Formats: sequence, structure tokens, C-alpha cells
Amino acid sequence: MIVNSLRVLFFIPIKKTIKVFKFFYNPKFAYSWIIEFIDDKIITKKHRRYVNFNDNSLIDYKKAINVITKTNLSELKNIESNFPDFLSSENKNLPNFSWAATNELAKLTYIITKLVKPKVVVETGVGPGMTSWSILQAMRENKKGHLYSIDLPTPNTKNMPEVGYLIPGQLKERWGLLIGPSKKILPNLLSELSVIDIFIHDSRHSFSNQLYEYETSWPSIKNLGFLISDDISNDAFIKFSKNNDRKPILIKQNKKFPIGIIKK
Ligand SMILES: C[S@@+](CC[C@H](N)C(=O)[O-])C[C@H]1O[C@@H](n2cnc3c(N)ncnc32)[C@H](O)[C@@H]1O
Repeated sequence: MIVNSLRVLFFIPIKKTIKVFKFFYNPKFAYSWIIEFIDDKIITKKHRRYVNFNDNSLIDYKKAINVITKTNLSELKNIESNFPDFLSSENKNLPNFSWAATNELAKLTYIITKLVKPKVVVETGVGPGMTSWSILQAMRENKKGHLYSIDLPTPNTKNMPEVGYLIPGQLKERWGLLIGPSKKILPNLLSELSVIDIFIHDSRHSFSNQLYEYETSWPSIKNLGFLISDDISNDAFIKFSKNNDRKPILIKQNKKFPIGIIKK
């Protein structure tokens, strides 16, 4: 009994410690994530104010596209019917990918890419690659476009063996993956590209990081282009929209915080 209790006492912390060491085995990786942690939990905390929205102010993703692009709903349904089965939530075999986008965000990015036929899309936050896949699939069908995605170095865990590991090989010819914090990569990438059609934020959802990404990408988004953001969990998106005289549209999804979209 005593031996068993001691075993449990020692075993749990050792197991946890090994897990943490394994997670941070790569110094470059550890450095990036510690900087992110400090920025998110220490520096940003005092700015954090949560949006007070209720479900009535949120709309469905197809309605949002209808409002923002004036495309009728039957055409949107038609485009949606080509959404890859594998990515759909109706796919009962879909494993539970950690950090993956919801079905609503994947469908929204697919439909918008099909409609707008963008030349250049930039996204931050790839994770397993749901949104990257849906955008690249739409670009392949459009026979046009290039997606640039930014993410931190991979944690190489069982759940995240590689950044964008879901994306099928044949879609990667239109894809550029850049590894590093968005604060470092985004400004250089945008100055190289000069104009982009769509920017999508799905990296770290802290007030300072979100505001930084919106403000940095906005000047590069072409007129009538789009800024899309996952997880409107703080005031950054609302504040940014107000500062730029735009009316934000908030979209409900199958998780606590909505998706935001504005047109330039
Ligand atoms: C929610 S996941 C992205 C999900 C993805 N859009 C999808 O559809 O599957 C968030 C990702 O943001 C990345 N991330 C966090 N902070 C970042 C930063 N400062 N710069 C770039 N990527 C970051 C994480 O490594 C993680 O892979």
C-alpha cells in the first residue's frame, strides 16, 4: 500500500517532467514558445478585455458571405457542395485533430477562395492544416493563387508531428510555409508581396498579437479584399474595425468564440 502510494507520487511528476522536456527538446522551439508565453500571459494581460456579445449578434457563415459579397445563398450552397468530404464535419471518421479549425472556418475559407479567386492569401497559424487545405483545394479548383502560411516550429508531438501534416502532397505546389513567430515573419513577407487579397489570422489569440497582425496586414490587403480572424475572444478585432471605420461581422461556430470578417 505505502509502496504503491509512493510509486504514484513519484511516477506522476516524473512522467509530466519527461513530457515537458520532450516537448521542449529543440532549443529553437523552446525559445519561440517561451517568448510567446511571456507576451501572452505577462505583457498582454493588462490589455485583455473580453467582448460582450450574445448569440443574437452572431450570424451563420453562409449568411456572412452573402452579406459581405452580395452573392446569393443558392450559389453559395452550390459552391459549398464541392467542399472536400474529408474536411467536412459530416465525416464520421474524422479524427480529433488538436488545434484544428472548425468546420465553419474551413468552409468559410473554402467558399471565399472559390468566389474571390485570389492571387495571394496569407494566413498565420497552420496547426494540422485544415484552413490551409481548404484554401489550397479551392485554389487548385480555381487553377489560380498562392497561399503563404506562417507557424512556429513544430512541437513534434504525437498530435502534431509536423506543421500542416494534413495537407495532401498534390496541393503543396501552391503553398509556401514560413516557420517562425508572425511578428518576425509577417512584415518581411508582406513587404515582398506588396499586395494581398486575403489575410487570415489563426495564430496566437492574444490581444496584442491579434491587433499586431491586423494592423500589419491591413495596408497590404487590396481594396475590397478581406481580413478574416478566428477566435474573437478579446477586443482587438472590434477595436481594429472601429479604428478603420469598418463594421465587423461576427460568425458563429462550433466553439466558444466567433470568427470575424471585414472587407477593406
Ligand atoms: C489554432 S492552430 C491553427 C489551426 C489551423 N488554422 C487549422 O485550420 O488547422 C494555432 C497555430 O498557431 C501557431 N502559433 C501560435 N503563436 C504563433 C505566432 N506567434 N506566430 C505564428 N504561429 C503561431 C501554433 O503553433 C498553432 O499551430
